[in-house]
Order: sequence, then structure tokens, then C-alpha cells
Amino acid sequence: MDRLRSSGYAIDDPYPIASHDLPQELYSNVIELIQLQAEPLCTPPQVAVGALSAFNLRMFNAGETTLTSKGNAPYRLACKISPINGETAPEGERTDLLIDLPPGRGITQPLRFRTPDHPGRYRLGVYALIENVTWLNELCSFEIDVVEETDTEAGFAWNHTDVTRDYGSDHLYALDLIREWVDLDGATQPKILEVGGNMAPMVERLGVRAYNLDVDPYGLMAGSIFAGKDHHVTNIVGDGMNLPFPDGFFDAIMMFATFHHFPDPVALLRHLKTKLAKNGQIFLMCEPVGHAFAESNYEAYVRELEHGAYEQAFLPWEYEAMIREAGLVVSNNVTDVGSAKIALRSPS
Ligand SMILES: C[S@@+](CC[C@H](N)C(=O)[O-])C[C@H]1O[C@@H](n2cnc3c(N)ncnc32)[C@H](O)[C@@H]1O
Repeated sequence: MDRLRSSGYAIDDPYPIASHDLPQELYSNVIELIQLQAEPLCTPPQVAVGALSAFNLRMFNAGETTLTSKGNAPYRLACKISPINGETAPEGERTDLLIDLPPGRGITQPLRFRTPDHPGRYRLGVYALIENVTWLNELCSFEIDVVEETDTEAGFAWNHTDVTRDYGSDHLYALDLIREWVDLDGATQPKILEVGGNMAPMVERLGVRAYNLDVDPYGLMAGSIFAGKDHHVTNIVGDGMNLPFPDGFFDAIMMFATFHHFPDPVALLRHLKTKLAKNGQIFLMCEPVGHAFAESNYEAYVRELEHGAYEQAFLPWEYEAMIREAGLVVSNNVTDVGSAKIALRSPS
């Protein structure tokens, strides 16, 4: 959209902002038009007592009205935590929606929850509400283990650093890590794919024959023009969820700042796994770490969401859970400030 706009044409935003100040009585008229579908991206492992924690909820507006995120009666989400088989808690930690959610739109929304002061197994119910008007139905629920102290040994070992880099340097460092981590022994003519490389794929810098697949035809067109004829990287317009290659084809599939743009990241990993040759590797590089809330004031992030991009960010335990669900294992990782680099392979 922004590229087309820079041609001078006025183009409407795909998702217009909702009216935020309807009279309250109008809200009760729209309740029957509300239909939300929601499920946790993955459920949290053990959580410590009395802790404020969060998880990502994939939510879709399947109803007929826009869910407004601001104004005097915003739609909000709340996590109510109750004992298993006990009374449902009357209140729970609230989370504002990141953006107005028009019909048909889905986002990944991080949700806060606060664990009780006593250890045990609890039920976490996710509710939508129109603040100052009414509570809506429970959207989904799951059980959580609340413990005195989380077992730091139980989880996967993430190699955290306190290093921050700018976008470009972080990409170059990630490429150095790939050179270090990639194992192409036994592949006479390695088959390498970058997904989401757009007009400047990092794979180009490896200096070997490779493919770059992206959904953005304009970016790939510009990239192809700049690269010239007989370039060693072949650009392909396509969808990473439906790679036009045979199963078992690639020795290495890499993504830079791209994995988190897929609405169903576990399904993506499962699909990529089918395209890996024996001993093949997947590299998730420069991926965001953390959760963005409405109060975080990440203006650029919210703007991207409002313009239709699928933005989301994950905590290390969410990366771990998604990778496990996809049937992959981590072979190497470095987690710099806000930027994860993770090498994956199929379990041997
Ligand atoms: C944030 S950009 C990253 C671009 C570049 N790799 C970088 O690191 O600067 C994400 C890229 O993923 C591409 N993308 C998003 N969804 C995709 C999909 N389903 N299949 C292929 N590419 C996709 C976008 O077109 C975009 O080029």
C-alpha cells in the first residue's frame, strides 16, 4: 500500500478506524452482532504464584460489527483465573485491544493474566467485555499450573545476551551465525531457500545458488531489476505456507524478520519441515522477542497492524512451545535484546 501511495495516488486504508464515541445505548444493540473466535497460540507452562504474566491469543472477528479499542466503552479482554471445578472469578486482569477489529480481521493479541497467591492447578478463562456496558461470553479456556517457584532447569536453554544492534547489523550478524551453524556436509549442490527476502534477500550474500520466495511481487520485481540477468538468486512470487517445491527438497530454509508475520506460525513450521531434506535445517533469524500491548505505545507496530500487516511477537517459551508442536528441535540459538536467532532441525 505504501509503495502504491508513493506513486502519488490516494489510496484508502484497508481497515478504516471505527467510531470510538457511540452513545452507550447503541452498544447493547450490537451485542448480537458480535462473534469472536479465539484460541491461545500456545498455553503457558508453569507460572509462579502472584505473578503478572502474558500469552498470545489468536483472535478473529467472525461477527458483523467492528470491535472498537478506544473511547468510553471499548472492547477489552480479561483473563479470569479460578480453581478447577470452583466458582468462576468475577473479575480478571484486563487487556486493551491493540487496534479496532473490523469484521473478518484477525490479530494476535497478547493477554495479561495474574496468577493467584497459592500454588495449584487453575482454570484460565478468556472473556471479552464492553467496558462500562457488559461482559460477553467466555471465548476459550485452558488449565495452568501455578507453582511456588518455576523450575528454571525444566525449560530449554536460551542463550540470552544483552546485546542490541540496529536492523542492518543484526541481519549481518545473523548471517554470520548461519555460516557458523549451517551443516551442508553431504550435499553436493546445496538447495537453499529464503522465505520473505523481498527485494534484498540475505541469502544473496552467501554467494551461492539459492531461491528467494516472497508474496510481494513488486519487491521481487525491483530486486530482480537491480540484481540483473544471470543472478545466482532466483526470485519466486509465492506463499511460504504453500511452497512450490517437492517434499524433502531443501538443505536449508531461512527467514529474516519474517516468521512472525505468519498468522499460523506452527502450521508454517510444519509445512517447512515437509520441504526439508534429510538433515535439513530451518533458520528463524532476527525475530522479535517480547509482547506489544496497547499501552506500550509502539506507534509503528500499531500502524502496521492498522494497515493490515500481521504483526506479532513471542516470548522465548512461546518459540519453544511452537517449535515443539511442529515436531522440530532447536540445534542452536542466540537471543539478543529483542531479536532471536534460532536454528531448527527434525529430531534425529
Ligand atoms: C518484515 S519483512 C522482512 C523482509 C526482509 N527479510 C528483512 O529482513 O528486512 C517480511 C517479509 O515477509 C514477506 N511475507 C509475508 N507473508 C508471507 C508469505 N505468506 N509468504 C511469503 N512471504 C511472506 C513480506 O512480503 C515481507 O517481504
